[in-house]
Amino acid sequence: MKVYITRKIPQKAIDFLKEKKYSVSVYKEDKPVPRKELIKHIRNADAVIPLLTDNIDKEIIAQMKICRVIANYAVGFDNIDVKYAASRNIIVTNTPGVLTDSTADLTISLALSCARRLPEAEKLLRDGKYTHWKPDLLLGIELKGKIFGILGAGRIGTATAVRAKAFGCKIIYFSRSQNKLLEKRTGAKKVSLNTLLKNSDFLSVHLTSSSETFHFIGRKELSLLKKTSVFINTSRGEIVDEKELIKILKKNKIRAAGLDVFENELNINKELLILNNVVLLPHIGSATQKARTEMAMIAARNVAAVLSGKKPLTEVKL
Ligand code: DGY
Repeated sequence: MKVYITRKIPQKAIDFLKEKKYSVSVYKEDKPVPRKELIKHIRNADAVIPLLTDNIDKEIIAQMKICRVIANYAVGFDNIDVKYAASRNIIVTNTPGVLTDSTADLTISLALSCARRLPEAEKLLRDGKYTHWKPDLLLGIELKGKIFGILGAGRIGTATAVRAKAFGCKIIYFSRSQNKLLEKRTGAKKVSLNTLLKNSDFLSVHLTSSSETFHFIGRKELSLLKKTSVFINTSRGEIVDEKELIKILKKNKIRAAGLDVFENELNINKELLILNNVVLLPHIGSATQKARTEMAMIAARNVAAVLSGKKPLTEVKL
């Protein structure tokens, strides 16, 4: 049986699939696979492992003749038309759990980088502008005693809250349902969206991207943030109206934003690149050796399970 992987993923997972005697084909170039090439390969694949940079939409899925499983190499699955795949009896899986800690670590890194203006500080030094210690050089804020707001209290939101609590923050959250574990571990309080926006010193977005959460944070929501607040997004760019975020950053209506995700990641809005009050990262939330290897292994195990007639480990259910 044939497995098509749209980019080089950790070798351990490729070896695992080869040991199972699947014929594994990997797109060799270090860039998203062109659509034509993708179509050519998925036509006769029994399983596909795509990346979040691959748009597995209706048109692509319709070309899959024998595919039984699309095992996304990501926890997010907004790049796949899951509903249409289901209508064609194709199982979709993702990689939950294994990137929770890496992403929560990065979220806190962004909070600290914004709070202590790390990129500005490093740039000053690299530019040869650090001449001597000064009492008022690059003053920032501390996390202790601040209100850390979590928007979307799933696995990553919870892990972020636990870390923020360890820094001495008070946690509030907004989520569809109550998260008792989060409350127990951090003393967090569930609040309305407006209360979250109005009170958070740090606001961290951890929603799943879907048509319902597209621009969930727009002009109105952003206008409720405090002038001193730090806005962080390590989930998906589409959840925030980036143009509106840029407007308030330009007018210094919030302290700073720490972003690991963007609305158009293949062509990041140039206006963001010239702002001083942002910390920008190239979508590296899950970029640790451990997380990326485990993501690959989950995807491979999902493929092996479905192709051998077993239940997948982590099926995406709508
Ligand atoms: C995901 O898995 O959805 C992250 O955004 C990248 O690892």
